[in-house]
Amino acid sequence: MCVTGANGFIGSHVVEMFEQEGVACLCLVRPGSPVGNLLEAVGRPRIARAHLESSEARDVLVETFRGVECVIHVAGRSSDWGRAASFERANVQATRNVLLAAREAGVRRIILAGSISSYGESDSPHCKDEDWPANPLQTYPLGRWFPSAMNHYRRTKWEATRWAMEFAKENGIHLTVLEPVWIFGEREASSGFHEYLDAVRSFPVVPGSRTNLFPVLYVRDLARAFLRVYRLQRPGVERFIVGSLRERTMEETHGAMRRRAGIRPPWLLPRGPSMILGTLLEFLWTLAGSTAAPPLTRSRVAMMFDSIRFSAERFHRVFGPFPETPFHEAIERTVSWYACSRGMA
Ligand SMILES: NC(=O)c1ccc[n+]([C@@H]2O[C@H](COP(=O)([O-])OP(=O)(O)OC[C@H]3O[C@@H](n4cnc5c(N)ncnc54)[C@H](OP(=O)(O)O)[C@@H]3O)[C@@H](O)[C@H]2O)c1
Repeated sequence: MCVTGANGFIGSHVVEMFEQEGVACLCLVRPGSPVGNLLEAVGRPRIARAHLESSEARDVLVETFRGVECVIHVAGRSSDWGRAASFERANVQATRNVLLAAREAGVRRIILAGSISSYGESDSPHCKDEDWPANPLQTYPLGRWFPSAMNHYRRTKWEATRWAMEFAKENGIHLTVLEPVWIFGEREASSGFHEYLDAVRSFPVVPGSRTNLFPVLYVRDLARAFLRVYRLQRPGVERFIVGSLRERTMEETHGAMRRRAGIRPPWLLPRGPSMILGTLLEFLWTLAGSTAAPPLTRSRVAMMFDSIRFSAERFHRVFGPFPETPFHEAIERTVSWYACSRGMA
């Protein structure tokens, strides 16, 4: 079994879970990328190095995949900052290359990390499931002239998913797309939870609401979902939203993390002024050509207020409800890890 993006947040947990359950993993990491997460996860990972984006890299991928029964493609660019082309390469081109190489190497089974963002993450009273139409682009102030990078992410995740499903159908490859909600846990770097704690530790006022719904899942539970899919070996092409069956407000998750980290509740800045600030910061950072994201963007502000609802019922119906890690235990493990690894008190 081969995992791409194996040193990333989710990838390293997938490798850890599979290895613990006796499934040997070949860990695919790009040349020059660090492997610290993998070392933390499994001690002595079996690592292969390859680029994923360029078609010239495909020969190396084909050789890497030879003899592998299943490829789990987790690598991708997950961020709300950066140029459209970088998302295109990392999410669409890399997925194409991985699937093309897998076919050439004779791999018949692929599990792909998609995203709920393909269905749209804007405020909605509906609980979306896999039959919901794709609608990845979200509307933001000035969005017509000044696009949000979060939309580049969402659009490219959907394009990669759509292309992969068509390709798998045409080529008789068994493909399962897992579309996770927002994932938290040890080694998280870009989902925003660690950044949130950093922000509320430093600032007494942050944008936010106490009532918006926000779907989260602990990373080890997601890794368990990958294992279930791998083990059940269902034929054909399918996609599943993966999340908790229990709906939570964003405040429930943030509040639990704050309490565990000993941080007092912040004052909440309402949506209007928050959005003005987010738009301004995003604009200034873009003008300055910064490669790092500003502390606030339009998409981050919207997320702090919108109610986002997704149904993971289909996954649980087909693969059985996985024993979810108790919420308090997942928070405890996550914040303890922040304290040990990132020096957060
Ligand atoms: N985190 C979430 O809440 C969440 C929710 C839904 C879906 N997802 C999806 O899950 C996947 C993994 O997310 P994550 O949170 O684990 O992200 P992550 O920690 O940033 O890991 C992503 C990995 O992808 C690789 N990667 C990044 N850019 C690449 C590129 N241009 N070409 C090839 N590989 C590239 C990197 O591998 P190297 O180490 O080799 O550089 C990195 O380790 C993504 O596809 C994301 O869309 C994440």
